[in-house]
Amino acid sequence: MALVGPPPMLNSNPFAVLMSDLRDERSASVPFPPGETGLSLPRTRRFANEPLPLLLEAYERYGPIFTLRLFHSNVVFMLGPAANHYVTVSHASNFTWRDSHFRDLIGLMGDGLLTIDGEFHRRSRLIMLPAFHREHIVASVDVIVEETTRALDELTPGASIDLYAWTRRLALRVAMRALFGVDPDGVQARSIDAAGLFEDALAFYASDFLLRVFRGPFTPWARLQQAARRLDELIYSEISRRRATGERGSDILSLLLDAQDEDGNTLTDLQIRDEVMTLMFAGHDTTTSTISFMFYELAHNPELVGRLLAEQDALLADGEPSAAQLISGELSELEMVFEETLRMYPPAWVGPRRAVGAFEFEGHAVPERAFVNYCSWASHHLPDVFADPEEFRPERFSPQARAAMPKGAYVPFGGGSRTCIGMRFGQLEVRTIATLILSRFTLTLPTDFELSIRQMPTISPRDGLPMFVHPRSAVAAAGLTAAA
Ligand code: HEM
Repeated sequence: MALVGPPPMLNSNPFAVLMSDLRDERSASVPFPPGETGLSLPRTRRFANEPLPLLLEAYERYGPIFTLRLFHSNVVFMLGPAANHYVTVSHASNFTWRDSHFRDLIGLMGDGLLTIDGEFHRRSRLIMLPAFHREHIVASVDVIVEETTRALDELTPGASIDLYAWTRRLALRVAMRALFGVDPDGVQARSIDAAGLFEDALAFYASDFLLRVFRGPFTPWARLQQAARRLDELIYSEISRRRATGERGSDILSLLLDAQDEDGNTLTDLQIRDEVMTLMFAGHDTTTSTISFMFYELAHNPELVGRLLAEQDALLADGEPSAAQLISGELSELEMVFEETLRMYPPAWVGPRRAVGAFEFEGHAVPERAFVNYCSWASHHLPDVFADPEEFRPERFSPQARAAMPKGAYVPFGGGSRTCIGMRFGQLEVRTIATLILSRFTLTLPTDFELSIRQMPTISPRDGLPMFVHPRSAVAAAGLTAAA
């Protein structure tokens, strides 16, 4: 089977896109599901700044499927277990990602796995899957442990840190080494602040909807393009170095460089660049947010910290986790905290899609070409599915409680043929970073800290996460929640 070529470029002229969306909407063969369909900038801004309450209010009013006009277009939201299953599994082939509500991500990631559909997606996934098999993941443990230990060595009790920025740098170093096979301390990588460049590029997705349509100099789009070009320099130079030297390792770049179909066709540099960029983005941003939200919640739940430390004391030999423990998730208290963190704060909070054909869900018709989003963040906060959803309760994920959860209720990694390809890698990384932080330090929040969440396009603490570093035992023993 020949390597299928990438899909045609989408028109990136925002005004042409806007007109085409409006044309699609006007020619809809069936009405949109009920909702708020009048043009409203305040609603659009609210969605950009605090989507969760907006979606939950709409769910209460309209039920599991409703329409909100955001900026210029109607967007259909489908919430809850049945909706998640419908979009990701049972009717996944009726939805595309590429021309969805988040299509602007193509500006950064090109035609990587996240933004493609159909046969090209299936083929690309097949090429990449071996890199995410168990033996490859296992081979990354040492890198993750080494990088985390190195980052922890920089912390001292009494220090105050931005845990979000600290984790972001760590996760990017891990992604560079384990996925891309690049030494972050090498001459070129050192000259490029990849974490800062991703921050700059992703700021586009946090900018005002109105500003996003402009393409001139000094616009958020220009900043995104500039940051992407710098990251490209790093990626392309590594591709040509590897092609020239023939050097290969167990990283995904090696796999992509050698991928061939039976006619001997190989991937182009551009295709490889797009996959590497996608993995570097998806592979560091989500773990960074998860660690941040996990330690935010732990700082509010000292008794949970006590339980996690007791578990470590009982199971870790000489206070160090073994590779087998990290891979298997043997520390079950930590696993439940991890899963509850992803329930309350699923970093990839929305699954953007476009309907190929008209369809019906729960008695409501949806027109062809409609924007349709499933949303883990809102689905995980439905009180009829998760009682007292605002409460952080890891016991929701005890084996018995988990077994009783309805299909599609808990979808932090998506589902079906687009399930997160990096799930096992991400789980291993979060587990390792969390275990090693807890084995050395206890982190607390400033007493006046108030969490505000931004989406960019994953969710994360808006202005970082300021935390104080304490020796492991001192704070846990005293049960302090916040101290300078
Ligand atoms: C806690 C960590 C992570 C979470 C919560 C997460 C979540 C998700 C979700 C929800 C999706 C599906 C989105 C959709 O349905 O539209 C997804 C897809 C994806 N993730 Fe992750 N992810 C994580 C870590 C990672 C890591 C570490 C990597 C790479 C090493 C990665 C690479 C990807 C890719 C490439 C896709 C697109 C898959 C496809 O469409 O075939 N993710 N992720």
